[in-house]
Amino acid sequence: MACFQPSGDVDKMIQGVVGDPIVYVNGQFVPLSRATVSVLDRGFIFGDGIYEVVPIYSGKPFRMKEHLDRLERSLAKIEIESPFSRKEWESLVEEIIKRAAIEGPCSMVYIQVTRGVAKRDHAFPSPKVPPTVFAMVSPMAPPTQQQRQEGLKVISIDDERWLHCDIKSVSLLGNVLAKQAAVNAGVDEVVQFRDGNMTEGASCNIWVVKDGKVIAPPKDNLVLEGIRYGLIQELCEELGIELVLRKVAKEEVAAADELLLTSATKEVLPVVIFDGKPVGSGVPGPVYGRLRKAYDGRIKALLEG
Ligand code: PDD
Repeated sequence: MACFQPSGDVDKMIQGVVGDPIVYVNGQFVPLSRATVSVLDRGFIFGDGIYEVVPIYSGKPFRMKEHLDRLERSLAKIEIESPFSRKEWESLVEEIIKRAAIEGPCSMVYIQVTRGVAKRDHAFPSPKVPPTVFAMVSPMAPPTQQQRQEGLKVISIDDERWLHCDIKSVSLLGNVLAKQAAVNAGVDEVVQFRDGNMTEGASCNIWVVKDGKVIAPPKDNLVLEGIRYGLIQELCEELGIELVLRKVAKEEVAAADELLLTSATKEVLPVVIFDGKPVGSGVPGPVYGRLRKAYDGRIKALLEG
């Protein structure tokens, strides 16, 4: 059997890569290296579960209400009853931040809920089994000064994922392959297109700026409604920038004045190279500058609040 063992000590490997913070699994707070779920967990067997990523600044969750709203929407969409009330979710997030005691100003809470442990059968277990709940805090590297000032490079690829991209599902193979396409091409991200229209990045939303307007795809089943969809909408309103949600053709992306991407971990960043060609003037533009400043203002308000 020895030849089937992973090389080295798995506990040490986990600790070496991510430390050994306290995490939450199914009602217990345990060190990460001791947190386990069954191999029959439907998250492992079928990718039958959902997740959330909440950014944390100096111990304070950013846009937590919106993240928990989406968590509950994702659960409802795949017909898993929420194991916790809203208050209990909030307490779990608070408690895991305290217990994990991650150093550094930025971290993120990862929450995963699966349909639970059952005999392998594609259909939902009947009767229902308790969902598996896992939560951990990890360090988050916020965008670097270089990324903010010099921008990112992206390539276009076909969107080969399924038709429920609105669900924050742990079935992420399509997104994993998309991100690897970016890595293989030596760029930072991909912009995916379905039937000639932009959908999103592998793990972020994408925004086109043209003639002073911000344009993004509609919030439908083809994209994840990032929590920054609502935030960018608020910031645009504050700044008097017109925001239009509509289909965005690939030609429009190629001809954009500016291109931006957003996510919990990337916040808002400029894209300066699209398929090897400069976006607009090839440097981060004025709309990015204004939104970036306003985004930083929201983080500052959280810290001071
Ligand atoms: N990803 N689209 C996809 C496919 C994503 O995976 C993400 C976020 C977003 C942006 O959503 P938000 O603004 O709520 O972070 C859009 C997270 C960060 C992740 O999977 O780690």
